[in-house]
Amino acid sequence: MTVLEMRAIGKSFPGVRALDGVNLTVGEGEVVALLGENGAGKSTLMNILAGVFKDYEGEIEIAGEPARVHSPKEAARHGIAMIHQELNLVPELSIADNIFLGRERAILDRKSMEARTAELLRGLGLDLSPRRLIKQCKIAERQLIEVAKALSQNVRVLVMDEPTSALADAEVQRLYGVIRDLTARGVAVIYISHRLEELEEIADRVVVLRDGRHIGERSTVDRDELIQMMVGRPLGEMFPRANGGSEGDELLRVEGLSVPGDPAVGRTALRGISLTVRAGEIVGVAGLMGAGRSELLESIFGVHRPSEGSISLAGAPYRPKSPKQAIDRGVALVAEDRKAQSLVLGNSVVFNASLSSLGRYLRLWRVDRRRESAAVERQVRDLRVKTPGLRFTVGNLSGGNQQKVVLAKWLLTEPSLILMDEPTRGIDVGAKAEIHALMSELAASGKAVLVASSELPELLAMCDRILVLCEGRITAEFPRGGAGQEAILEAAMARQQVTT
Ligand SMILES: Nc1ncnc2c1ncn2[C@@H]1O[C@H](COP(=O)(O)OP(=O)(O)OP(=O)(O)O)[C@@H](O)[C@H]1O
Ligand SMILES: [Mg+2]
Repeated sequence: MTVLEMRAIGKSFPGVRALDGVNLTVGEGEVVALLGENGAGKSTLMNILAGVFKDYEGEIEIAGEPARVHSPKEAARHGIAMIHQELNLVPELSIADNIFLGRERAILDRKSMEARTAELLRGLGLDLSPRRLIKQCKIAERQLIEVAKALSQNVRVLVMDEPTSALADAEVQRLYGVIRDLTARGVAVIYISHRLEELEEIADRVVVLRDGRHIGERSTVDRDELIQMMVGRPLGEMFPRANGGSEGDELLRVEGLSVPGDPAVGRTALRGISLTVRAGEIVGVAGLMGAGRSELLESIFGVHRPSEGSISLAGAPYRPKSPKQAIDRGVALVAEDRKAQSLVLGNSVVFNASLSSLGRYLRLWRVDRRRESAAVERQVRDLRVKTPGLRFTVGNLSGGNQQKVVLAKWLLTEPSLILMDEPTRGIDVGAKAEIHALMSELAASGKAVLVASSELPELLAMCDRILVLCEGRITAEFPRGGAGQEAILEAAMARQQVTT
């Protein structure tokens, strides 16, 4: 039975035709995947369904009845729940408060609210107190809390906009379990992801959008065909990395580094970390959620203060007390959470992209706007950021294009050491290949790259060496070609097996 039918949906923004005559139907218990490049219109289509936009063209029918969906409340009344790509939780409130936000005045008292929250969290494998504040939760945890929030409502259609972009394999599997339970109960699921291998596992049907139009749909996943439909041209080689660069001089040396953790904000302690990265080398950091991958990169970027150990850069002692000092020494961090750490969403592309490199465009103590624009323009072109212009508000770009602006911002500082935390999170396959090519180019031009990723195929294909973190320690190091996914996962879980 058809649960949802969207017909001839259109949507325009100033200067952008985001959707044009798009049709979408989803049946009871069906998982339909939406696939398309960054900026194709996936989130916009789903935001319309979730009542985010008042105005749209076309019709929506739910269970055969015409439905008006002009506000999130109306969407909820029709049983539509959406997990947003850019998470929508209130940092200052607790998990329970967030899950029941806007519904507190229902019959639920605090105690049953918290009990219900605890139950939902357990179902997702999260061992967190319902009273914990969102700002104390890690990004992967927040993503699962968004899922819990959607599940707390009576859902008929569940939209998941890149629900796994911050999750590691084990968490992804748990989420699949949840999706299977839901579909068995007849819930219709619309699933957006740039990870094609996920679609094979979870989707009954894949619908491809390109430039705001419905291009076609398939009920079997043929990777090459889908990519062709998505990008409308044959794709360059995935994971382009010829020979590794382990011949350069040592650029980064970390010795016996320990950094205190902070349970209050869910920060993992680092213990006795030693590693090196040479110029021209790409070194990967693998590990499960909470292993300390982000903490390691942040510590090298001067965000946390080590309690022990030392770091040197190009042979000279390096003790950054702030990111500013790290930047001054030629270190850049492409952070994981673009919304919180990297972008000022209300400002323009050029403002954001030049934020960390303004000193380079100074002339007589003033920023030379022309040089600034020229530099940003070049990066925007190289990275193929899909934007109507440099003055466009960053918050109105699609998720993947926002990520590209973050990359542009750090490349403009011309760093010699680039730390990347999930650099291709939310990036479409085409753009991913471009970012991988960029990483190879950076290494080839003598830069050192240290990259954390929860996508093992990405690390295996791109890195000269892979370090595995588990509970704040390095548990293994593999040379290029020296390990498969299993060996890495085993090392990633090494200490957990010992302690439980
Ligand atoms: N509020 C807005 N104002 C102006 N333009 C917008 C707004 N929201 C989206 N757009 C534009 O609509 C187009 C489609 O964006 P959308 O976010 O739907 O893409 P997407 O397919 O979800 O991409 P991604 O994979 O990067 O998340 C883009 O060109 C984007 O810049
Ligand atoms: Mg999107």
